[in-house]
Amino acid sequence: MIERLEVPQDLHRNSAVVQAAGYERTGQTLIDLVAHSTGHKNFGDIDVLDVGCGVRFTQTIVNSDIPLKSYTGVEIHRPIVDFLQKEVEPHDSRFKYAHWNVHNAMYNPQGLCIGDQQAMPVDGHYDVICLISVFTHLTPTDSLALLKLMRNCIREDGKLFFSAYIDDELTFFEDRVKGHPLRHAYYGRDYMVSLIKQAGWKIESFNDKDDDSYIQHYFVCTPA
Ligand SMILES: C[S@@+](CC[C@H](N)C(=O)[O-])C[C@H]1O[C@@H](n2cnc3c(N)ncnc32)[C@H](O)[C@@H]1O
Repeated sequence: MIERLEVPQDLHRNSAVVQAAGYERTGQTLIDLVAHSTGHKNFGDIDVLDVGCGVRFTQTIVNSDIPLKSYTGVEIHRPIVDFLQKEVEPHDSRFKYAHWNVHNAMYNPQGLCIGDQQAMPVDGHYDVICLISVFTHLTPTDSLALLKLMRNCIREDGKLFFSAYIDDELTFFEDRVKGHPLRHAYYGRDYMVSLIKQAGWKIESFNDKDDDSYIQHYFVCTPA
């Protein structure tokens, strides 16, 4: 088993606020939030799929020795996957990583269209699928396509947890930072709810933005 993971600074994908608060401190807070919001004490008895995983949850789980059954991370940024597949996967069978070459204007402009994908790049079904700060950088078309693909990866009694920028004043969608595509992708709440339902999910809870947990608004969903 791997005991310590040192991540090169250029692979971190979090904001300056998160960096200042600490990757592992915020990682621990968010792992607890995901586990508790989806009805679990921790990650000790569940198979977790983290889409847009970055490096933070892996670093936190390894360095803080967090209980874990299994963790699968999907990323569109190839160097992150190369690093985790080399430094973590061969040393601890609980961790697996997959590269997914899909398009994102901010993170992977050369990638393929998510809507053309037949499946997520992973096998099997998961107890919890989580996405922290990923829908915050997705177009509505990509959000719907991703929600539909993930619907095929959840266990019958599994749960989906994801954060998003929600603005109740907004009817549809607004890419808010001019000149920086998808840096802040805002959704009207009813519009996001309609995408979630269209993709075959039922909303269990909608939760306010929580600065103390370093998270935007977040949804917990079950398969409909
Ligand atoms: C702000 S970072 C958050 C990383 C991690 N979830 C965390 O909270 O530390 C967003 C990540 O999502 C990844 N990403 C964006 N769109 C994606 C997609 N469609 N599928 C998988 N990963 C995606 C980006 O490459 C980036 O690493």
